[in-house]
Amino acid sequence: MSSIIARRRHPAAGYAAVAGGLVAVGVLYSTLSGGGASADAPAQASTQVAQGKSLFVQSCSSCHGLDAQGTSQAPSLVGAGAAAVYFQMSTGRMPAKELGAENDRKPTNFTEQQIYAIADYIASLGGGPPIPSDEQVSTVGANTALGEELFSTNCAQCHGFAGAGGALTYGKNAPSLNASTPKQIYTAMLTGPEAMPVFGDGALTPQAKRDIIAYITETRTEPNPGGLSLGRIGPVTEGLVIFLGGMGVLVLIAMWLTAKRREPWDAAQEENAREARTAETSGTSRTSGTEH
Ligand code: HEC
Ligand code: HEC
Repeated sequence: MSSIIARRRHPAAGYAAVAGGLVAVGVLYSTLSGGGASADAPAQASTQVAQGKSLFVQSCSSCHGLDAQGTSQAPSLVGAGAAAVYFQMSTGRMPAKELGAENDRKPTNFTEQQIYAIADYIASLGGGPPIPSDEQVSTVGANTALGEELFSTNCAQCHGFAGAGGALTYGKNAPSLNASTPKQIYTAMLTGPEAMPVFGDGALTPQAKRDIIAYITETRTEPNPGGLSLGRIGPVTEGLVIFLGGMGVLVLIAMWLTAKRREPWDAAQEENAREARTAETSGTSRTSGTEH
């Protein structure tokens, strides 16, 4: 019993327990939040259009109509194009939950493949911009300095200079761009959701769009107080890490303070142990090299 207490009292054991606990929470959290599945763009096929149509009928037709022709509740999607479907669904805005409410970014329940299927179906009705390929949204070789200029003239008045978001008139908001993927930024520009204007290729060339994407994705990696990128999935993780780190530091300080305090019975116990040891060594006349 006293040996368990003694072991538990060992300061290193306490630090190890705290460190272990923090690591366990971190691992659990990253498992639960999961890595985003990044499916490759599936090949276009008529079976995919058919699958897209049946998904559309299930999830979207109550508002947009059985043939996407629009209803009194939601606009027609004929001519909206695949890029609009990709933007709206991959950012979790569609399917909307209720009418009239502002559609905010949220996790989507649809797979990348299902989103592409519905997008193909909408595109098959005619018109609208297609979903850009991975190469089209790549920031390799992009000019970030030019991107910053383009961003401040075209985007900053609504999204703020660091893309952190801002208030618009009529109580609306321009969202933060911290969680947007390059493809989402590209399709947002192509389709101009809600109060956002459309930036067609005449207004911003494909290269200018890539420069802007490079600027947005690089500004958010610059201020990196933790030294780790945290997967860049936004304020929730950062808050969690600050919370856990802060708690850890406080607990360690508290443990350090209490560890400094030696109780009278600790001293007595050590005294007993020392006596027992000296009695043992002198009794067997054994010398130990490790003990002092
Ligand atoms: C609860 C009703 C509702 C449901 C369900 C719904 N939508 Fe919508 N959708 C709307 C409304 C209202 C708008 C227009 C306002 C806006 O853009 O936020 C809209 C806009 C859109 C737009 C933008 C149109 C454009 O011209 O850019 C797309 C694309 C879209 N919806 C796709 C879908 C898809 C795909 C589904 C099913 C997965 C879906 N919606 C389900 C109500 C709905
Ligand atoms: C007039 C204001 C305005 C301007 C200018 C503007 N946006 Fe937006 N932007 C919005 C609004 C409002 C939304 C939210 C739309 C919605 O929720 O349907 C939005 C949404 C977005 C999103 C989606 C964010 C997400 O992940 O949820 C991206 C990305 C984006 N804008 C990028 C840009 C870029 C890049 C530019 C400049 C080329 C730009 N915006 C210019 C108002 C604006």
